[in-house]
Amino acid sequence: MSATIKSEKEHFPVLLEELISIISPLYSGTFIDCTFGQGGISKKILENPKNKVIALDRDEKATKNAFSLKAKYKDRFIFKNIKFSQINNIVITNKNIKAIIFDLGYSLNQILDPEKGLSFNAQGKLNMKLGLNEFSADDVVNKLDQKDLDKIFRYFGDEKKAKIISKKICEFRKKNLLKTENLVDIINKVKFKKKSKIHSATKIFQALRIFVNKEISEIIFGLINSFKILPIGGVLIAISFHSIEDKIIKTFFKFFSENKNSSRYLPDHTQTKKLFKLLQRKPILPSKQEIEINKPSRSAKLRYAVKINHEQNFKEFINKFDHLLEIENISKKL
Ligand SMILES: C[S@@+](CC[C@H](N)C(=O)[O-])C[C@H]1O[C@@H](n2cnc3c(N)ncnc32)[C@H](O)[C@@H]1O
Repeated sequence: MSATIKSEKEHFPVLLEELISIISPLYSGTFIDCTFGQGGISKKILENPKNKVIALDRDEKATKNAFSLKAKYKDRFIFKNIKFSQINNIVITNKNIKAIIFDLGYSLNQILDPEKGLSFNAQGKLNMKLGLNEFSADDVVNKLDQKDLDKIFRYFGDEKKAKIISKKICEFRKKNLLKTENLVDIINKVKFKKKSKIHSATKIFQALRIFVNKEISEIIFGLINSFKILPIGGVLIAISFHSIEDKIIKTFFKFFSENKNSSRYLPDHTQTKKLFKLLQRKPILPSKQEIEINKPSRSAKLRYAVKINHEQNFKEFINKFDHLLEIENISKKL
């Protein structure tokens, strides 16, 4: 699970200081917070009176958090209840965009929300919808066949016991509707190890959350469409919490910050222009102190790059993740 939890109700964004040190030299402009949540990052940026924030979140419940910021900061703050893959559809009159920020994962509110059923501690029908979804985890585990479930668990959860868990799910649902507690029970029976540090259901629940929220295409097209609206000199920043997300972000920055055809035997004009300048190849990780205060921050990775060119052909980049997008497309059967 991602999240950035410090106290019981308040959500503290991970790597906030590091993020602010990257963007503060750009202050006096518009910042897009693609994952508003409880507004921790937006609030910090708005503390500077020269800044404006456009915030997005797919969760309708985030709208409530946005009300108080709107009341305080008036036209310095705009909130849109949309998915960030749609970022290029928002009308931006002020083009002075300095940075676009993704703080992926889930906010504390969402994890604690029994209605969302993100956690294996929930009871009843599975859900896992963050907002603006087409189907729920209940549809997935009760309608898809064994082979498809196996693929989802294997590729999105890296679950070694995917096949046997999928088989048990299909056997169970011949007689009953499969609920959260039944799924956890099946996984526990297949996987339970006394000494394991992580809950045996962690990987299957991660796979379901990724699938239900189409996290693969969201991040791929979120990055691409952000790039399209970012001016040259603007910074794209992403904080991820699981390895699939980080791989996509890392590939995006690395792929477009290298010359595609760097053979010295070829003339210069055959080279594809670099789109990014990478100021740091390695990701920024939380400090020991931050992890001590806030355990879930341990899996966070922050990557960022500065846009230096407009040229864009994203096909080759998208193709690299065709195998994951194909799994996501299983949802067309629902
Ligand atoms: C880790 S929380 C962000 C926390 C936030 N930075 C704060 O300080 O409160 C991630 C947020 O991103 C939102 N989110 C996840 N995927 C999204 C998507 N594809 N489009 C828009 N919002 C998304 C979630 O609903 C959640 O509120």
